[in-house]
Amino acid sequence: MKKIIIINGPNLNLLGKREGNIYGDISLEDIKIKCEKKSNELKIKLFFCQSNNEGDLINYIHSAQNEFDGIIINPAALTHTSIALLDALRAIDKPKVEIHLSNIYNREDYRKKSLTSEGVNGLICGFGSQSYILAMEAISKLI
Ligand code: DQA
Repeated sequence: MKKIIIINGPNLNLLGKREGNIYGDISLEDIKIKCEKKSNELKIKLFFCQSNNEGDLINYIHSAQNEFDGIIINPAALTHTSIALLDALRAIDKPKVEIHLSNIYNREDYRKKSLTSEGVNGLICGFGSQSYILAMEAISKLI
């Protein structure tokens, strides 16, 4: 069975309690449950994780080289700043999809640039928690 990792960056543990007008009221735990259902449908194995630390996120990305067939990542605010995450993504030779709940291109100017998207196959944003499901469909075709 193919295996994927969904990696969530800083502050996403607060979903449901954080800026509901932008991110909605769904918690990360509920997104995880939705993704687990989808992974059963797609017959892929899922590891879902979150960290507020950049180093942990880099280690999760590295773990994909030997342990997973593909990566879905919501790098959260690190999207816009982290060359370290970009380099980690570039180092892993597996299908990769970046996601965001919000449409980063219709928000503040400082969110309009995604450094990390330069290291992935494609980017899905703006569909709320459905961005995760769309990314799972996309990656299931690539792995
Ligand atoms: C986000 C968008 C980022 O700009 C922001 O820093 C986040 C969440 C999203 O999923 O919409 O924390 O990645």
